Amino acid sequence: MTGVTVRVPAKLNLQLAVGPPRADGYHDLVTVFHAVSLFDQVAVVPAARDGVAVSGEGADRVPAGQDNLALRAVAALRAAVPAGAAEPACVHVTITKRIPVAAGLAGGSADAAAALVACNELWDCGLSQQQLAEVGAKVGSDVAFALLGGTAVGRGRGEHLTPALAPATQYHWVLAFADGQLSTPEVYATLDRLRAARAAQAGDPLSPAQGGSAQATRPRSGQSRSGRFQSPDLDAALMSALRSGDAALVGRTLSNDLQAAAVSLFPPLRKTLAAGLELGALGALVAGSGPTCAFLARSADRALDLAASLSGAGVCRSVARVTGPVPGAAIVPPAK
Ligand code: C5P
Repeated sequence: MTGVTVRVPAKLNLQLAVGPPRADGYHDLVTVFHAVSLFDQVAVVPAARDGVAVSGEGADRVPAGQDNLALRAVAALRAAVPAGAAEPACVHVTITKRIPVAAGLAGGSADAAAALVACNELWDCGLSQQQLAEVGAKVGSDVAFALLGGTAVGRGRGEHLTPALAPATQYHWVLAFADGQLSTPEVYATLDRLRAARAAQAGDPLSPAQGGSAQATRPRSGQSRSGRFQSPDLDAALMSALRSGDAALVGRTLSNDLQAAAVSLFPPLRKTLAAGLELGALGALVAGSGPTCAFLARSADRALDLAASLSGAGVCRSVARVTGPVPGAAIVPPAK
């Protein structure tokens, strides 16, 4: 076999409910992932040694060494190949990016997922999607979803997935890309700080700022007026909106606990979100840890209008129209 090429989608989180920090530094989540039609392409070919080349959107900001998530996925899969099986060959990975880097769209996890699918095929490993997801979870929290695609509920770090039961509705989105990036760990840390400050203000004796331990409290999503932690719960209104296939209802029930933190680190987002809503979006939210903003439109035509108006309003670097849900990482058949 000469090589394998895989196409992999970006993701949005239609709900992103974040619990308190865990002992390992991660946060327990309840999230509704949604794969959208913005794809990176990842090709692997046998080579004398492992290596990676990146081209396309934001390529200069993607690490080209062993830190590259696709190369880390290659190494993780090689380590997972059972003893006794043929030693997997070295590979050269070529990544063609359309998913912007550090934009909240899980582009790095997507590339890792694509590399897993490609090497599984190239090396004839025969691992199931579930087995690949277990390998991928070591590389990034969103790798498992990039393998699965569609719309799915994620728990834990986001790696425990259940496909959402919903009619085959196609949703039309406009993505507004920002002129800059956000660091995911920094956004989570900012959320923790905002919550601690709010709990302290509310005089919560269990808040870290009052000498209590956040770990001692229940995981929470958002914060009650008293500043107390609440469990991150799946949003029943969003799930019911998805079951109805009514885009207006879905638009009204989008939520992201990381949004306030992302906006505080990147204040121009406030204007971008407001502009999209004023221009008629059914709903708006920051994608994951940002700084991309996502707007839901009623139809393909409305998405076209919204994209043109947002572009003209000067509130973002560029826009893209995408649809969702789309399938996860998939092999591109060789051209005949
Ligand atoms: O897993 P991934 O490498 O994508 O996560 C990037 C960073 O985002 C983590 O190092 C962590 O700081 C933060 N994170 C988190 N809780 C999650 C997922 C990510 O705190 N569930």
